[in-house]
Amino acid sequence: PVLVVDFGAQYAQLIARRVREAKVYSEIVPHTFTVEQMLAKDPAAIILSGGPSSVYAQGAPFVDPALFDAGVPVMGICYGFQAMAQALGGEVAQTGLREYGGTEVEVCEAGVLLTGTPGHQTTWMSHGDAVHRAPDGFEVLATSSGSPVAAFEDRSRRLYGVQWHPEVKHSAHGQTVLEHFLYDGAGLAPDWTPGNVIADQVAAIRAQVGDARVICGLSGGVDSSVAAALVQKAVGDQLTCVFVDHGLLREGEVEQVERDFVDATGVNLVIRDEKERFLTALAGHTDPETKRKIIGREFIRAFEDAAREIVESAGEAGGEVKFLVQGTLYPDVVESGGGEGAANIKSHHNVGGLPDDLQFELVEPLRTLFKDEVRAVGLELGVPEVIVWRQPFPGPGLGIRIIGEVTAERLDTLRAADAIAREELTKAGLDREIWQCPVVLLADVRSVGVQGDGRTYGHPVVLRPVSSEDAMTADWTRLPYDVLATISTRITNEVADVNRVTLDVTSKPPATIEWE
Ligand code: XMP
Repeated sequence: PVLVVDFGAQYAQLIARRVREAKVYSEIVPHTFTVEQMLAKDPAAIILSGGPSSVYAQGAPFVDPALFDAGVPVMGICYGFQAMAQALGGEVAQTGLREYGGTEVEVCEAGVLLTGTPGHQTTWMSHGDAVHRAPDGFEVLATSSGSPVAAFEDRSRRLYGVQWHPEVKHSAHGQTVLEHFLYDGAGLAPDWTPGNVIADQVAAIRAQVGDARVICGLSGGVDSSVAAALVQKAVGDQLTCVFVDHGLLREGEVEQVERDFVDATGVNLVIRDEKERFLTALAGHTDPETKRKIIGREFIRAFEDAAREIVESAGEAGGEVKFLVQGTLYPDVVESGGGEGAANIKSHHNVGGLPDDLQFELVEPLRTLFKDEVRAVGLELGVPEVIVWRQPFPGPGLGIRIIGEVTAERLDTLRAADAIAREELTKAGLDREIWQCPVVLLADVRSVGVQGDGRTYGHPVVLRPVSSEDAMTADWTRLPYDVLATISTRITNEVADVNRVTLDVTSKPPATIEWE
């Protein structure tokens, strides 16, 4: 892999993504890794990321000069560039002069990094210190008003660096600079493609699983579907998928999994109708956390029942169920400590959080991938687009979108309103623009309306369209008024108990995306 050394700012993930966009596989490692630990990963190249610090700050992350003697191509970016200059005997000055945002640099020598880019170009900078003298053996490629040395390279030792952030789109030729480093500086080929990812993962899954049996909890979402499709491709009928229908699903979801997913993958699927179990357990409860806990608990019980039955029937066929498929993604791995050490099942996982005492070994074929890469792999595997491009839907489902007690009748009402909103948003071509649009039923609120000749006394629903990158923060989406009007008219006409449609115009924070 290309290793991206994370100096603690938010840039490392972005750099890793840009390297992958150049079709070269990358992994993030913490800056606390020693040179031996890095070399143990047999890196094809190393990129030192930006960071928040000055190389002179107390406790500033340090770069071991031995890294530059290992014969591995290295590129330093921003903080990484300065740390590299300092480690190799260049001069980094504390100027106190900050360059921040769009900054023009002047190219004095194109070298490898800047070949084919304009003599004056806009870059995105964010730094206080500046490199005043390049280390011996380095050629200066560019300067800016605040950075006498804004880029340098030593081709014979394959060491490169830029003061700016090539991974940020505001750097006009950033991706070109990164690609020059990867292809020309480090001699790498752009061969990391969805097809190759699938071939590698299929081989890895076969090696891990052997001829044992595997189960997978399917939620209908992107991650568990693509993970299941990969495992299916690798070990075929050794895999059984379990889909728990808890009755809190949206219209058409069971059918979508049953029809589209099975058609596309040929996977063994067990659908468990557990609607009664969940309704009974939820009866009388209105507190959001209580409802979430009940749903989580019942989900686990239902899954355990299913697993037990599969183990029993597989027992007769002579196979042991040893493995559980999880759709863990790379950001989860990075956030829980760089992927070193044991895997843990996250409680926020989209199947609702399976217990870790389930006594299965985990198969996690997506743990090196970002979400958009999972989608590309899914499309390549033939997973239907309706599943690959599905918007997020919470494990507890409609249960946390009915404010008040969950009943079968209220679920029907909300399901109908939600189906109309989704249909109209799809028709308006807005599905990829919005992150998701929960529809929330205020089941304990009533308001007066007039319809036909009569007075109504019904419930409001709330539309909650949000735009987001990662659901950590979100803004409310400015939907076109005519789309809102159509949704409102249709819901109040077609859904018996609803006589009012309202719009949630709150960002996150302070609100969360879901109402409970
Ligand atoms: P909040 O409401 O916390 O939601 O702003 C952030 C994102 O997470 C989804 N969400 C869940 N997903 N299990 C899930 O798999 C859950 O319990 C859960 N709760 C919220 C929510 O839909 C949004 O995309």
